[in-house]
Parts: sequence; C-alpha cells; structure tokens
Amino acid sequence: MSGLRRHDEDPRKLLIERRLANVNNVIPVMSPKGGVGKTLISTLMALAIAENNSSVGILDLDVTNPSIHVILNLDPGVKPSEDKGVIPPKVHGIKAMSIAYYTEGKPLPLRGSEITKVVREILAITIWGSLDYLIIDTPPGMSDVHLEILSNVGKARPLVVTTPHILSVYSVRSLLTILKEVGTPIVGLVENMSENPTDVVIDLCREFKIRYLGNVPLESLLALSVGNMTLMKKTRAYSRVAEIIKRLSS
Ligand SMILES: Nc1ncnc2c1ncn2[C@@H]1O[C@H](COP(=O)(O)OP(=O)(O)OP(=O)(O)O)[C@@H](O)[C@H]1O
Ligand SMILES: [Mg+2]
Repeated sequence: MSGLRRHDEDPRKLLIERRLANVNNVIPVMSPKGGVGKTLISTLMALAIAENNSSVGILDLDVTNPSIHVILNLDPGVKPSEDKGVIPPKVHGIKAMSIAYYTEGKPLPLRGSEITKVVREILAITIWGSLDYLIIDTPPGMSDVHLEILSNVGKARPLVVTTPHILSVYSVRSLLTILKEVGTPIVGLVENMSENPTDVVIDLCREFKIRYLGNVPLESLLALSVGNMTLMKKTRAYSRVAEIIKRLSS
C-alpha cells in the first residue's frame, strides 16, 4: 500500500482519514473486467449487512457511469443533507452516496485527472459517522479511481469479483498481481454467475493465497429485481451473498 501513497500536501488526505476513522471495514469491490457483477454484488452485500443489523454505507465511485441509485431505486427528490460536509441519506437501511444525486441523470464525461479530483472530493466531503462496513462500487479496470482509493484510504481491503470465464479470470490474475505487488491485503474473491465453485477460480485463489468467499449463481430473477429490494432479497444470489457476509465477519 505504501507504494501507492502520494506524499503531496493536499489537506483533503487528512480529512479523508478523519471521515473514515470510525468505519471498521472499507471494502472496494473490484474487477478489471466489465459487466461481471461488481455493482450488483456491492448492493447485495450492503443489503445483507443491513439485514444483519450491522451499520453499512455504500459509495458509488463509478463516477462516469453510476448505477447504485438505479439498483436501490433512490428517490430523485431525496438529496444528501449538508453540515460541514455531506451526510448521505439512508435507504433500505444503507447510507448511500453517489454523484448521481448531483448529476440528476445527465452524463458526466471526465478526463483522468478530473476523475481523480472528483473521487478525492467525494471521499473528503462525505460524513459516514460510525459504520461497521463501507462498500465501495468501482468501475471496471485498475486505473484512476482504484489508485485514488488505495492511495487515500489506507484501511481499504478490496473484494475481487470474477466470473468463471477465462477472459475474466485472465484479467483478475493481473489485478491480483498488482495488488500483491503494492502489498494491499484482499478480503477475498467472489465467483459470480456460477452455479458451482469452479476449479479455475479456486486454483487462482490458492495461487494468490486469498480467500474464496463463495459463488453466486446466474439468475434471471436477480436482473429482473433491479429497483425492487423486496424481490431482490428473495433471490438465491442474495442468500449466497448473505452467507458470504457471514463468512467475512467470522
Ligand atoms: N448473478 C447474476 N445473475 C444474473 N444477472 C447478473 C448477475 N450478476 C450480474 N448480472 C447482470 O449482469 C449485468 C452486469 O452487472 P453489473 O452492472 O453488476 O456488473 P459490473 O461489473 O458492475 O459492470 P461494470 O463493469 O459495467 O460496472 C447486469 O445486467 C446485471 O443485472
Ligand atoms: Mg458496475
């Protein structure tokens, strides 16, 4: 991790540390491959944690393509309140923060340096208070957003998502290599869109000495349940993620 820390003088770095001082677990959900289910898994995790009576926040840092607000079906009229920072509204028992509160459905194309600024700003202004878990949804890849999280949030412990497909596993291998090189501990790996644990993913976990947290089946009801939390909690995927959360906290 220290290899990623920048020793510049931006006072927001200290502020970010203060903002997250009472958050016990910060878990960025990552995968270099797009469309493997990072956002859905992030949301299911937050729902399962809230259901478990633990305190949880979710932060959508896919700033150019946010979608947590769509999955959680956030009321567009509800905005974060402001008091020397921004207090995220609580929905379905989850404190939810997204740039979507401010962009109001308009696209937000950003260059790399602008992405870095936006991510740092969101981390610096959001008042989380005390939380057991903060789940961070990240865009595909290993680029500005991820580097900004890892360099500013020393306690971040990524959870990596893959499908069993060779292209996803291939990309995840490179992500795990980078995280290992910079010394970032990983909470574990989730295999999504998979009826059973597959050898190729289990072998990858063994090779990198990380926890295989579980598999989540490919399920049409899950895709249909976007925006409907009651339905989402009835999916097998939700039950699997709830088991993964129990495993994580044990
Ligand atoms: N286990 C699953 N069963 C069925 N559909 C799924 C499952 N996981 C994800 N999906 C579907 O796959 C698509 C991609 O999911 P999601 O947006 O969560 O992926 P992502 O990794 O966040 O994508 P991106 O890289 O674009 O951010 C969505 O349409 C989602 O409904
Ligand atoms: Mg996503």
